[in-house]
Amino acid sequence: MTEKILILDFGSQYTQLIARAIRELNVYCEIVPCLKPIEITPDIKGIILSGSPFSVNDPNAPKPDISQWSNQVPVLGVCYGAQLIAQQNGGLVAKSNSREYGRAHLVMENQECFLSNISEGSQVWMSHSDSIKELPEGFTLLAKTNSIPVAAYRVDKYAQPVYGIQFHPEVTHSTEGRKMIKNFVVDVCKCSQSWTSAAYVEETIANLKAQLGDSKVVMALSGGVDSTVAATLIHRAIGDKLYCIFVDNGLLRKNEYEDVLESYKVLGLNVKGIDAKDRFYSKLDGVSDPEGKRKIIGGLFIDIFQEEAHHLEDVSFLGQGTIYPDVIESVSVNGPSVTIKSHHNVGGLPEKMNLKLVEPLRFLFKDEVRRVGKELGIQASFLERHPFPGPGLGIRILGAVTPEKVQMLQDADDIYVKLLKSTGEYNNVWQAGTILLPVQSVGVMGDERTYEFTVALRAVTSVDGMTADWAHLPYDFLAKVSNDIINNVRGINRVVYDISSKPPATIEWE
Ligand code: XMP
Repeated sequence: MTEKILILDFGSQYTQLIARAIRELNVYCEIVPCLKPIEITPDIKGIILSGSPFSVNDPNAPKPDISQWSNQVPVLGVCYGAQLIAQQNGGLVAKSNSREYGRAHLVMENQECFLSNISEGSQVWMSHSDSIKELPEGFTLLAKTNSIPVAAYRVDKYAQPVYGIQFHPEVTHSTEGRKMIKNFVVDVCKCSQSWTSAAYVEETIANLKAQLGDSKVVMALSGGVDSTVAATLIHRAIGDKLYCIFVDNGLLRKNEYEDVLESYKVLGLNVKGIDAKDRFYSKLDGVSDPEGKRKIIGGLFIDIFQEEAHHLEDVSFLGQGTIYPDVIESVSVNGPSVTIKSHHNVGGLPEKMNLKLVEPLRFLFKDEVRRVGKELGIQASFLERHPFPGPGLGIRILGAVTPEKVQMLQDADDIYVKLLKSTGEYNNVWQAGTILLPVQSVGVMGDERTYEFTVALRAVTSVDGMTADWAHLPYDFLAKVSNDIINNVRGINRVVYDISSKPPATIEWE
């Protein structure tokens, strides 16, 4: 049994940060929409209510009855969560005289359990326009700030300890926030901090064995971290009953197909490589619309995957490398909604092929996937690879794709990535690649005039790819890349560096 903390998501932008902070303590947690019915099972050790863009006085605000849990497990309300607990017990929550955003300092009133090792005046981060003006009967004030009367409280009326805090311990600007989260999760909820990568690997393999039994699983590998780690876990559970397929769509990086296939074999995976370059090139012939290219590449991939999977008899599961940010059900300001990013997966395949899904990384964040990969002995160079889009170089060649252009871009990209690695810059950037522009310009080489293509270099820093800044790579480095590309890649006579952030630009150019 994996013990866990549940985080009820009321739509705060910080909900995922709470989850990250708890998992850093080696305690497993899950984010659930705030209105989802919850049955308290013995593995649930505590509940945290997140903040919210709603006001508790808003008629549409989500207001589950807190007392349904607070007699069974400890509860901590953060910001909106704290206001909700106070309001449901008869306290007064109203608009603050001054909205409180940013830094504030705790003034301790009752420094016990939850705040016992926190300094007087500790900096905390606030983000609220309502505040708790009056605490209900039976609530004990633990701390206030210079601008609000209630910053933290304890409730004694329930069978389990209940706390509320007006500030956000999960953001790094709350300097002792991690300590407070630890106090709640470890001291109050009594979690044992045993959720490590090693434990995750062991438990997941045992669960996969139980779930899959003698079943066969088919899975598409992309060369990326997620599918590789997922496949390795499944392989440890069922061995060669996992059939992996790795398709060369002709749009991979230089030598990627051969190199990655070799790495898979070293990992012991039962993998079949399929060289489908020509099929992709002929379908892409003359197509220049980015979405058109994406559809062709995705559609043909599914066709090929299905053809291959049909050769296998009695397959009942489809393995996928889906990770947690892809599946978290998020609560939007306009009411609970579900957001699922699907472009990383083989969308539509399970229904079409009548397969059940097996997704061993479904509850992990990206860096946790990397740690599990390390635990499984997957080499660091594999785990640290930059993300690479499914349609590959197909969306980095602006306009129509030809095999000649692919080769030109592969050569330029190879020079760029190798230099990033050899100079130690590779791990300073989140993603890097080259883009072949559909313009030719005049140049001069030796005594000859040239009329050739331009390559744009892209390198960004980012946390999750949702927002990104251009990486400030050293001029000397850029000079070397430009020089090496122009001197070595026939057909390119100009290199430019993309200095656009996302938003308003995107990371890819198409
Ligand atoms: P953008 O260009 O939207 O990219 O800023 C954000 C991240 O998503 C990747 N990306 C894709 N990945 N299929 C994929 O599998 C796609 O069609 C696709 N488009 C963009 C991109 O490389 C970046 O990491």
